[in-house]
Amino acid sequence: MDSLVIYHSRSGNTKKVAHAIGSVVGAEVKDLEYVKPEDVKNNSLVGIGSGCYYGRPAEEIVEFLKDLDDLEGTPFFVFGTHGGQTSFLCILQSKIEEIGGKILGSWSCNGETYKGRFEGHPDDKDLEDANKFAISILSQMR
Ligand SMILES: Cc1cc2nc3c(=O)[nH]c(=O)nc-3n(C[C@H](O)[C@H](O)[C@H](O)COP(=O)(O)O)c2cc1C
Repeated sequence: MDSLVIYHSRSGNTKKVAHAIGSVVGAEVKDLEYVKPEDVKNNSLVGIGSGCYYGRPAEEIVEFLKDLDDLEGTPFFVFGTHGGQTSFLCILQSKIEEIGGKILGSWSCNGETYKGRFEGHPDDKDLEDANKFAISILSQMR
C-alpha cells in the first residue's frame, strides 16, 4: 500500500509527529514544500499535518488543498500540534471532505509555543500516543 504523510511545520513540532506516524504507517513523509498536487493521487492513504495558527491550519496547507482534484473517496487522516486550540483540525477535515476525501481519523497534541508554553512537547509520551493513533488508522485499512 502506497501512503504519504504531508506536513507543514514552522518550528518542527508537527514534523516530529509526522515522522512518528509515518514510521508506523510505512509512509513516505514529506514537507509540504516538496509536494506537488499530483503526488497525492498515487496513494491509497494520505495523512496531512499542520500546526495551529490563529485557530486555523497553516494557510499553505489550505492553499495546497485548493489545487487538488476530486479525491474520489481516498482515505485521509489529519493530525497536528497546537497551543490549546484543537478546532483547526475540524477545519482541515472539512476542507478535505469538501473535495471528496474520506477522513479515517484525527489526532493532535500540544506543541511548544514561541512563548515557551508546553515546553518540550511533543514529548516521548505524545509521540507514543501518535504511534497508537497511526496503528488505529492502519487497522481501518485492512
Ligand atoms: C504565530 C503563531 C500563532 C499561533 N496561534 C495559535 C492558536 O491560535 N491556537 C493555538 O492553540 N496555538 C497557536 N499557536 C501555537 C502553535 O500551534 C504550536 O506551537 C504548534 O506546535 C506549532 O507547530 P509547528 O511548529 O509544527 O508549525 C501559534 C503559534 C504561532 C507561532
